[in-house]
Amino acid sequence: VLDVQSLYKQTGMFTFDPGFTSTASCRSAITYIDGEAGILMYRGYPIEQLAEQCTFLEVCYLLLNSELPNETEIKAFEHEITMHTMVHDQVNLFFRGFRRDAHPMAIMVGVVGALSAFYHDAMDIHSKADRQGCAVRLIAKVPTIVAMCHKYSTGMPFMYPKNKLNYVENFMRMMLATPCDEYEPNPVLVRALDRILILHADHEQNASTSTVRLAGSSGANPFACITAGIACLWGAAHGGANEAVLNMLLEIDNVSRIGQYIDKAKDKNDPFRLMGFGHRVYKNHDPRAKLMRETCHEVLTELGLHDDKMFKLALELERIALEDDYFIAKKLYPNVDYYSGIVLHALGIPSKMFTAIFAMGRTVGWVSHWDEMIADPDQKIGRPRQLYTGQTRRDIPIR
Ligand code: ACO
Repeated sequence: VLDVQSLYKQTGMFTFDPGFTSTASCRSAITYIDGEAGILMYRGYPIEQLAEQCTFLEVCYLLLNSELPNETEIKAFEHEITMHTMVHDQVNLFFRGFRRDAHPMAIMVGVVGALSAFYHDAMDIHSKADRQGCAVRLIAKVPTIVAMCHKYSTGMPFMYPKNKLNYVENFMRMMLATPCDEYEPNPVLVRALDRILILHADHEQNASTSTVRLAGSSGANPFACITAGIACLWGAAHGGANEAVLNMLLEIDNVSRIGQYIDKAKDKNDPFRLMGFGHRVYKNHDPRAKLMRETCHEVLTELGLHDDKMFKLALELERIALEDDYFIAKKLYPNVDYYSGIVLHALGIPSKMFTAIFAMGRTVGWVSHWDEMIADPDQKIGRPRQLYTGQTRRDIPIR
């Protein structure tokens, strides 16, 4: 490994790498990606096996603790998470300060950030126990806050968590049921959302995770750092893509209009991009997209929607783009969010909530990276250099 720091000290040289396309900002043992081969592994386990055989909470345990849990460990972890799903009653009042039509990600930034005002006596970043406590609180409470964002925007009463339900069932009930309903979890739909969370759980040094690390490198508390990640995720080039994909498919509306949108995406004078296509690292295929397409198929079959217009449109758009010279030359393939929006839509979740659900899955990744960074004895405050392009020294003329 090149010792960049001593190179800099000896020569004064530094690298100029906008967007960090080839600069590693840290060491990490959490997630491995081989973008050329389309490989993604959490702690050494292929994403395909995790998505097939594990629950989201098992994956959370793995990301946080380096190993998959045994039966006793997962029971204890599930219990701990379940015991922390409720938010402080004062948090309810926060919501009333927001406009009902506010974007859920705007509310998430405010409310998750505010959690640090409730746990200031248990967030000593140098205490392993406090760090674990914060991780559990975040993983447990973010779904409750996401569901509250939705209920608030529709003017419906907040649903309190129900401890006898599992993590995903509990979220779906808080999100989709009302106090008047008996909520009956459908195992196929629960499994589909569980899988969405697994596929979004971590993705090494993506923009939001790097943001969390940079914020955390100054010693800021974990709730504040995760909030920084949520803010970064919101952008359409990152987590906002799942919402943008659905909006794009609604806009295209008909298979006959696909060519028009492909041409728009290729036109350098048009800022339009095919949403859900392309990735900084994957230049062959995104392994998560394949799993997501399968899940999409399962959900639509379960709901009797196999003739779903949106799904057919998405399949056809994918087929045409993958045969197009522009997309072939630039190695642009569907990413994880190309199909996740269709699944969420079929589950009855409004598109405005999609990025918040991505944040729900990614919280464990953010907090695992934050914890790994704080525990690293070589950790330094993040402080990128810059290439100054401004004025050389000049003096204010004597007036
Ligand atoms: N549609 C059309 N052209 C595209 C697309 C697209 N979706 N994505 C990239 N390109 C083109 C660019 O115009 C550029 O062309 P050029 O070389 O002629 O200038 C080339 O492909 C490379 O694109 P960059 O933006 O330089 O690639 P980068 O690695 O920086 O960006 C990104 C990756 C942001 C994901 C990009 O592909 C994109 O904007 N995709 C659409 C948004 C999206 O789906 N984001 C979700 C990402 S996955 C996630 O966050 C979970």
